[in-house]
Amino acid sequence: MRLPPERRDPGARTVTAPATGKADHSVAVAGFPFPFPKETYRYSTNVEPASVPRPTAAGSWGEHPVDIDHAYRDELAERARILSADPSRLQCLPHMVPAAWDAMFVLMEQLADAYPQHMSLTREGGGWHWHNGLLGIDRCFAVGETSSMPEGPLGFIGQQLQEDIVLLEQRDGELWADAGLVTFAADWSFGFDVGMSFLEIHGPVPRVHDEGVIPRAQAFLMRLEPGQSYRRTNWTLTVDGKLDTSTETYPEWGPDRTTLVDGPLAAVGDRLHLRTEVQHLIRLPESNAIMFLIRSYLLPFAALATVPEWAARTAEVLEELPADMAEYKGVTRTREAGIRWLREYGGVCEGSAAGAA
Ligand code: HEM
Repeated sequence: MRLPPERRDPGARTVTAPATGKADHSVAVAGFPFPFPKETYRYSTNVEPASVPRPTAAGSWGEHPVDIDHAYRDELAERARILSADPSRLQCLPHMVPAAWDAMFVLMEQLADAYPQHMSLTREGGGWHWHNGLLGIDRCFAVGETSSMPEGPLGFIGQQLQEDIVLLEQRDGELWADAGLVTFAADWSFGFDVGMSFLEIHGPVPRVHDEGVIPRAQAFLMRLEPGQSYRRTNWTLTVDGKLDTSTETYPEWGPDRTTLVDGPLAAVGDRLHLRTEVQHLIRLPESNAIMFLIRSYLLPFAALATVPEWAARTAEVLEELPADMAEYKGVTRTREAGIRWLREYGGVCEGSAAGAA
């Protein structure tokens, strides 16, 4: 693996290069899950086994289902701000309480496994001791004992990882999104979707229904065995690096698209971001719920352009993306600005093709 030392130490932060005064994006680029393996993008049931490091043109990603990086503290502060403004981002229907404990426990195990130098989960007396050295957290708890976890299991673990979490119960031959903590939704609302079925949630997505993508995905998920983990990626374009682009806060981020398109082309490189979601699908061992983790990575086009294969591939994919998919993703106008910036400032020649990974 070609990870720079900063990525192995989650305490490290993105720095400003002293000589140039420009942001140094190298750490973010090295760990960025570039989402375009092909020159065209279409929806598919694109799942693959988790925990297999995926090399890219600039580094690698995907070694663990949980990923702490240079943005750890900033993103956790952003989550705390969003949650205090809108507590509906954290919900747990009463029958999902055991699944929430199950999820917290599995996430603690995952974190301790990925970052043993900072995190540990050990038996203590009749219960457990959780240690997070990055945040200075020590907590003794017993699974299911509310008094040992006043924030609730999802509230507690959600303060310590960058992933959003949705928990789905399997009943009546379907999956139901009945609990979760989602502060970084990309143009959807967890508060609206909670309690809905997997098929209902995917109702607004174009194409997938005729092509059977969603029923196939659900059938696949319902066959997952306890402990099995898979992953997939999704992507969109976001303006100004905002993680919270949920339906509820549309008035705060919606107008950014217009100001980007109407503003100077030179500013697009810093303002427009490629957003990749790495989504993990994990069958929880005790409750049999499916845990859906969504980790959102944002990379400005200026940083994307430091990897010529990525810049060329992104321009190709954006150019070819069918209008209905662009409309659904909300990128109809911003993609044009992005393509123009990549050609004018990002070193992409018209019609150039690239082999990117
Ligand atoms: C193999 C599993 C899955 C597949 C193949 C899949 C597929 C998709 C696709 C193709 C989209 C459209 C994305 C875009 O263009 O930006 C989408 C959106 C979405 N997916 Fe999934 N998905 C999967 C699992 C899940 C799970 C487990 C959840 C948990 C609740 C979920 C929740 C959503 C939501 C909330 C949206 C946005 C819908 C909206 O616009 O309101 N997905 N999914």
